[in-house]
Amino acid sequence: MSKKVIAIVGPKGGVGKSTISVNLAIALAGIGKKVIAVDLDLGGANLHILMGLRSFKHSLDDFILKKVKSLEEILIETGIENLSLICGGSNIPDIANMPFQQKMKLINHILKLDSDIVILDLAAGSSFNVVDFLMIANQRLMVTTPEMTSLLKAYTFIKTCVFRMLTFHFKTTDAQNVLEILEKAKDPVANPHLKTMQNILDEAAKINPASTAAARELIAGFKPNILINMTQSERDANVGNVIQGMLNQYLGIFSSVITTLPTDPMVKKATLQTKPVMLVAPESEFSIAVRSLALQCL
Ligand SMILES: Nc1ncnc2c1ncn2[C@@H]1O[C@H](COP(=O)(O)OP(=O)(O)OP(=O)(O)O)[C@@H](O)[C@H]1O
Ligand SMILES: [Mg+2]
Repeated sequence: MSKKVIAIVGPKGGVGKSTISVNLAIALAGIGKKVIAVDLDLGGANLHILMGLRSFKHSLDDFILKKVKSLEEILIETGIENLSLICGGSNIPDIANMPFQQKMKLINHILKLDSDIVILDLAAGSSFNVVDFLMIANQRLMVTTPEMTSLLKAYTFIKTCVFRMLTFHFKTTDAQNVLEILEKAKDPVANPHLKTMQNILDEAAKINPASTAAARELIAGFKPNILINMTQSERDANVGNVIQGMLNQYLGIFSSVITTLPTDPMVKKATLQTKPVMLVAPESEFSIAVRSLALQCL
């Protein structure tokens, strides 16, 4: 089996990305997968705390400062069978904006990690770094809460990712002349003829049909899984249909799967104890839902 890289992202802070990363990692390790969780919330790393580790010997700082040659050298044993952690750096100013080459080196080493599953906990928002780390994943969990503002941000976030992916694609397939269409499409009010991805790609195909055909395949393969966290009611569980509809209509993305995780007081309780809820309350509603998510991720 080839390695699976799962990226946990979200447009907003505090929506539960790190909580989900830790508990999903434990759930996957619990079913016998060798898992490495990587704290890529650079500048705001906290996975080790959520895993109940107070201090750590090594972190990404050591890799970035070239004190070690490989990520294997900074793996931390978590005390949980099958689960290791790479702690985020904390002492390099501006680490969240690392230069492109440094980021590519880190990405190459992440892809070479020896494990069944790598989980990437990413920072909030859609900075270039977040989007680039997202692109190396073969499974992308977009975490949002059920409020409409949060859902709309999730939609905008996915749109940003798609536009960045297309810009990179057209730049590297010798189709620079299509980029102007993408730029115009960023302002659909001024350019209503470029409102949907279908419109954009139809225009692009007139200029560069081969590169546009490849772009259509890229979009078809970009399958974000929308994960609605902290639901409180059945209505909340259904709000994902709104974003799914928008993704279909405007971006031509058809296959986003929607999973929901309930608001569960045991999560806060465990967080206050700096222990993963999956360990302190394995039968809580949240833990059960995360184990079911883990099975969907396989
Ligand atoms: N399903 C849930 N039920 C109850 N509380 C939750 C749930 N999910 C997360 N929380 C709580 O929400 C808070 C924020 O969670 P977390 O730190 O995982 O978010 P985050 O998206 O990683 O934030 P940041 O962007 O700041 O890194 C924590 O106090 C956590 O315990
Ligand atoms: Mg976090």
